[in-house]
Amino acid sequence: MASRSLRLLLLSYLGVLCYHKVTGISIETDNKNVKAEEFKEAILSCKHKFSKEMSLRIEWKKIQSRGVSFVYYNGEFTGDLKNRAEMLNTGIHIRNVTRKDSGTYRCEISAKSEHRQHLEEATIMLTVLVAPTTPVCEVPSSAMTGTVVELSCKETEGSPPSEYQWYKNGVALLEKTGTGGARAANITYTMNKKSGTLLFNTVTKNDTGEYFCEASNGIGLSQKCSVKRMQVDDLNVSGIIAAVVFVALVMALCGLGVFYAQKKGYFTKESSSQKKSNYQSTSEKDFKHTKSFVI
Ligand SMILES: *[C@@H]1O[C@H](CO)[C@@H](O)[C@H](O)[C@H]1NC(C)=O
Ligand SMILES: *[C@@H]1O[C@H](CO)[C@@H](O)[C@H](O)[C@H]1NC(C)=O
Ligand SMILES: *[C@@H]1O[C@H](CO)[C@@H](O)[C@H](O)[C@H]1NC(C)=O
Repeated sequence: MASRSLRLLLLSYLGVLCYHKVTGISIETDNKNVKAEEFKEAILSCKHKFSKEMSLRIEWKKIQSRGVSFVYYNGEFTGDLKNRAEMLNTGIHIRNVTRKDSGTYRCEISAKSEHRQHLEEATIMLTVLVAPTTPVCEVPSSAMTGTVVELSCKETEGSPPSEYQWYKNGVALLEKTGTGGARAANITYTMNKKSGTLLFNTVTKNDTGEYFCEASNGIGLSQKCSVKRMQVDDLNVSGIIAAVVFVALVMALCGLGVFYAQKKGYFTKESSSQKKSNYQSTSEKDFKHTKSFVI
């Protein structure tokens, strides 16, 4: 509560600083940098003071990279804001702001007196804060002891960007602290709250568990991805034996294939025209060599 009133005080102080004093007319904005949560309301403040005898024209524009468009012109709202905004004495009030409303707005007030025309303007930035969406989590279903394993979690809607918290078996994982300590020494992972990764440099059987992650940015509700199980196992010895036997079998079959091909003179046919007598003897040597290799 105290920080809120302090902030208001600061804002009104800044507002005073932004006060432009020009001969007939002046504009003042309470807040040049408006932040509003999506689907809530926002007020873009533009207060003006003028001499009674002047006739005023108020316009609001939105400044985008592809050009400047009218928001309020000729006494009415146009475009996206048509049915969502109302003109106040002190600015405009927008209902149900969406992320598309983010941007730079300019309040322009021109005043005509008998002799001259005055134009004053104020620029206001509107940032629409967006709650996170359900993050996408990648958790390997199985991993081998001692390998590097990285779990990832990401969501892209949140504005400001979300921070991520991983959970194992329903318990929030701790972030490794730089100062170390007895507890930190026991942490076998690195959790990056900004990028959403959970890294195990050498994963152990103890890291087996049910994992999920939560994205939050202080706006709206935080969002979780569904729980996924990661199973960490030691190297499977019988699996390795099976693989070795399989590879040996394949090599033996290849050798046998070469053996029969040579026996049938498959290789000699192609090069027989080159060096007939010479080749015959080397072919025989090869034959013996292959035979001894296979057996
Ligand atoms: C706010 O705007 C969104 C998107 O334009 C719309 O889906 C939603 O119904 C609106 N809510 C209200 C209360 O008007
Ligand atoms: C991990 O922490 C437990 C207590 O929580 C302690 O008994 C154990 O020695 C620690 N292991 C290492 C490797 O620090
Ligand atoms: C795994 O956890 C158990 C207790 O939960 C502990 O006794 C054991 O030392 C841990 N093993 C490793 C490799 O951290």
